[in-house]
Amino acid sequence: MAAEKERVCVTGAGGYVASWLVKDLLDRGYIVHGTVRDPGDKKNDHLKKLPNSAENLQLFKADLLDYDSLCAAISGCTGVFHVASPVPAPGAVVDLIEPAVIGTRNVLNASFNAKVKRVVVVSSTAAVKCNPSWPKDKAMDEECWSDTEFCKSNQPHYYLEQDYYLAKTIAEREALEYAERTGLDIVTVCPSIVLGPMLQPTLNTSSSMFLMVMKGGLESMENTEDPLVDVRDVAKALVLVYEKPEAKGRYLCTSYTIRRGTTVDNLKKLYPNYNYPKSFTEVDDHLNLTSQKLQNLGWKYRPIEDTLVSTVRNFQESGLL
Ligand SMILES: NC(=O)c1ccc[n+]([C@@H]2O[C@H](COP(=O)([O-])OP(=O)(O)OC[C@H]3O[C@@H](n4cnc5c(N)ncnc54)[C@H](OP(=O)(O)O)[C@@H]3O)[C@@H](O)[C@H]2O)c1
Repeated sequence: MAAEKERVCVTGAGGYVASWLVKDLLDRGYIVHGTVRDPGDKKNDHLKKLPNSAENLQLFKADLLDYDSLCAAISGCTGVFHVASPVPAPGAVVDLIEPAVIGTRNVLNASFNAKVKRVVVVSSTAAVKCNPSWPKDKAMDEECWSDTEFCKSNQPHYYLEQDYYLAKTIAEREALEYAERTGLDIVTVCPSIVLGPMLQPTLNTSSSMFLMVMKGGLESMENTEDPLVDVRDVAKALVLVYEKPEAKGRYLCTSYTIRRGTTVDNLKKLYPNYNYPKSFTEVDDHLNLTSQKLQNLGWKYRPIEDTLVSTVRNFQESGLL
């Protein structure tokens, strides 16, 4: 439990990762200022049902491109968790760069001016793994950055748009440079593909991709190496790097790297009757990521079986499966 009620802001509070973070913060006694683009939208109602939300959660209407709206939400907070950033559905045409890069800049400026103690910025392993020069025999760690020129000229195997990789890489780099330049205490966390139960009623992109694997009935799918992490463990990592004074710089947040075909084989054993891909095509995408730095800080993650079973149960309960 936090010693006394500390006030923190979470951007994009109604999203998949942020909802679990808000829940954890409320459980730990924090007062939370959650930003959402439309507080009246029913898709944010789940936040109002979280334990302690009646007393300790305040929702603020804010857009990442509206600096003043962010200032109002961040004012009076000692900590900020910047989670909001568009995560587009495959093929969706959405502006990613501006909300990610200008949005992060706005959040950092508002935090600096409000004399916030620490800002935790959610980045992604998208800002890490597109690096063809990284030695194949060395695990990718916090030193590894996606190569923006490579991102621009190659469509990675991960179904998300090139611009997502660019947006997350540029935004995270700028955040760490901002820390160097201004002295604002900024820690970044790079989750891999996030799975696990949803608290929110709408389907986010990584959950929809999992659903497509289970019931899409695709003729064929690439047998990619998927780095995975549970949404509940990501929320714990974000709180951990906020609370640990010694946390510094960048943290990869990933638990397992598994070939998609292996995940499907495991799911089939537990749930044989869904409409899985009929075949897989092999791809050369050897991936080796390490979260040792985060583990050294005290982060623990749950077994992958827990994540898969909880995700499927959550989909079943919400009628998606
Ligand atoms: N899920 C993953 O696999 C994964 C992996 C690595 C990193 N991440 C990172 O985790 C964070 C959260 O992702 P998620 O998976 O939880 O996705 P999500 O559920 O789609 O959440 C994204 C949030 O960003 C908000 N947002 C987007 N554009 C905005 C803008 N211009 N102004 C204000 N809010 C805006 C959305 O608000 P609306 O509801 O109003 O659209 C939503 O609350 C992102 O930074 C993402 O890059 C996710």
